[in-house]
Amino acid sequence: MSAVLVVHGGAWAIPDELAKASVDGVKTAACEGFAVLKRGGSALDAVEAAVRTLEDNAVFNSGHGAALNTDGEVELDAIIMDGRTLACGAVSSVQNIAHPVSLARAVMEKTSHVMLTGRGANLFAESIGITTVPTDTLVTEYERKEWEKQKTYVTGVMEDFNSQWAHDTVGAVAVDSAGNVACATSTGGIRNKMVGRVGDSPIIGSGGYADNSSGAVSCTGHGESILKVTLARLILSHVEQGKSVADASRLSLQHMGDRVQGAGGAIVVSPSREWAATFTTERMAWAAVEHDVLWYGLEPNEKLQEKIAQ
Ligand code: GLY
Repeated sequence: MSAVLVVHGGAWAIPDELAKASVDGVKTAACEGFAVLKRGGSALDAVEAAVRTLEDNAVFNSGHGAALNTDGEVELDAIIMDGRTLACGAVSSVQNIAHPVSLARAVMEKTSHVMLTGRGANLFAESIGITTVPTDTLVTEYERKEWEKQKTYVTGVMEDFNSQWAHDTVGAVAVDSAGNVACATSTGGIRNKMVGRVGDSPIIGSGGYADNSSGAVSCTGHGESILKVTLARLILSHVEQGKSVADASRLSLQHMGDRVQGAGGAIVVSPSREWAATFTTERMAWAAVEHDVLWYGLEPNEKLQEKIAQ
């Protein structure tokens, strides 16, 4: 059976100046992740590779380029989940780590826990030899300037994610040739968040979920809203009830808008290779690879395609 990989670069009102770089960035990450699947790698390996590529790209809010908290510091959250076994790992509020998704995977594979936070996560990283980087190397000039402009915590959630104040999250979902699904999500969170604030991204069932019996999801958008409706699990519960992954995503995002006035987006893949990229913000950069076709988009209902070399 063929494999599919989908990535997103965050749902928000991406300004024109970042539009091309965002689309180019998700296309590159989708191809990197798909290359792992093509070599026979697992869905888990593929989503980690795709998200690492996005974490390295300063145009996105994760790893290098992450949003800053009220103290002007980076605090990063990430999750990874294996749909074969429901094994999952997450980290929250970590600093000095260039690839939080790989630290989340290490939590999953090398500890008996699901999530480590703050200092403990950083100590664990040190104990297993994950290289730390000076925080300043993760902070971009663009982010520092935006942070300076917006010194107050933002509260109008629908407006924020439909404004250029937000800057949100990356993620990947995949199904491999054996039919196993996986998800990964990584973020710097909301700009000017309180110190210690943790959003949806590292929370199992909110920022991501993967189960071979239904599919894999990675979410983006206003974290507090996503947490209240446990968006990733909500989408998969609709899939379990027989909805297509596209309808399940639309219904769940609509529910989040109606119930808690939150905006966001989600990418979903099912074990039967059905996939969707859906959002209720102005824009979301996303890309997907299946067979020899790279699909991508930025605007609502946009679905462009390019052939890729086999
Ligand atoms: N969706 C990312 C966050 O709110 O932290």
